Amino acid sequence: MEGRSLLEKPETVSEAAPRPGQTDCLDLGQLANGQLLRYDCPFAQDAPRDVFTIKVSRRERDEVAGRGDNGRTAVGRGMAPWLVGFGAVAGAGAALGGYALLYEPFDVRAERLTVRLMRDRRGLPDEGLRILHISDTHFRGADRRERAKIEQVRRATADAQFDLLIHTGDFLHNDEGLENVLALFDSIPRPRIGAFAVTGNHDHVVYEMRRALHYSWRTFWARGGKCCDGATGKRALARRARLGSLLQFARYLLNNRFDGEPSGVNDIAGLRRALEGRGVRFLDNRAVRLEGTDAYVVGIEDLLQGEPDLQGGLQDVRPDAPTILLSHNPDIIAAPAAGQADLILAGHTHGGQIVLPLLGPVYTQTEQLTRSEASGHWRHGKTHVYVHRGLGESIPIRLGSPPHVTFLTLLPARPSGA
Ligand SMILES: [Fe+2]
Repeated sequence: MEGRSLLEKPETVSEAAPRPGQTDCLDLGQLANGQLLRYDCPFAQDAPRDVFTIKVSRRERDEVAGRGDNGRTAVGRGMAPWLVGFGAVAGAGAALGGYALLYEPFDVRAERLTVRLMRDRRGLPDEGLRILHISDTHFRGADRRERAKIEQVRRATADAQFDLLIHTGDFLHNDEGLENVLALFDSIPRPRIGAFAVTGNHDHVVYEMRRALHYSWRTFWARGGKCCDGATGKRALARRARLGSLLQFARYLLNNRFDGEPSGVNDIAGLRRALEGRGVRFLDNRAVRLEGTDAYVVGIEDLLQGEPDLQGGLQDVRPDAPTILLSHNPDIIAAPAAGQADLILAGHTHGGQIVLPLLGPVYTQTEQLTRSEASGHWRHGKTHVYVHRGLGESIPIRLGSPPHVTFLTLLPARPSGA
């Protein structure tokens, strides 16, 4: 288009008026709205800035702006809508990935919960037992990330007063994490009565996650090609599965073991020794009566990599005494004897670690729980169950399942008639 032809009538005319070929200073940004434009063209530093009124038709305006008949810009005309959509989705995905990798794993929350015994069992102090519950630290010697978490825990627990410090296992992802585990315990105030723990499957074994899918496929067929057929709980998802093998395998992955292939062992004896030096007592299928109360804490070895013996652990517990059961894996609820406990504290699920809107946790690592039971507090008969989301991760991302510490108070039952 010849810019000169746009000139209709100058409002002022001077020596510095545009000459042929000098309309290339036209600012397209001034052509955005309407047909009548004010055209400010500084042709010379020392000349007055002359103003011309030019009249531009819509077609001419579109030509100057490089638009086609449909009003799209030249750039828009060359970019397919699917490409724009793909770019938007990719950008949103990158932002979400950055959040899941770099923000949420360090967003350590302090959560509080008070529960009351559902059975009239005597032996708790009137004010109850105050418990600080942590779990699944999964330290592996990634100093920057782990020190950041330790600092968050230190802030969340500073000046807190509690009777019991409980860790429900998966201290380590591998032995290189031991130093930071000890630093974590050094950062937490001392409990009034004591610190107790059970070990998790990762404390025993190092897993090779790169072969997780292959390993899961092998274990799936080793179990008869059926999802979760070892489950005994009436809510096991496997009992309702009646579709083909691939669907069964998908359910197996989502509800069962996607831990990767065991590729080595951790120095679990060294972990125990080091933490016992910090005053932590490991309860391997055994119980202790809490000082100054008639309540018991019982710990059970890990269901996957340990040698759990719940009956053995409970044998020294008075049947009518308030009882807290520690089990890394919450699938312990399937054992009838677990009903003797008033409170079960567990971890292992990481709350799913990735929790999607509407779908919930992507992967729960349990055979006995529904997706809504993968974290938090719920009841199983007369037993309170609390499943901790953990402080660490197996794969270092979290989405919708932030790490936390929990201050839990266990109160005596309400007096009958109250
Ligand atoms: Fe874990």
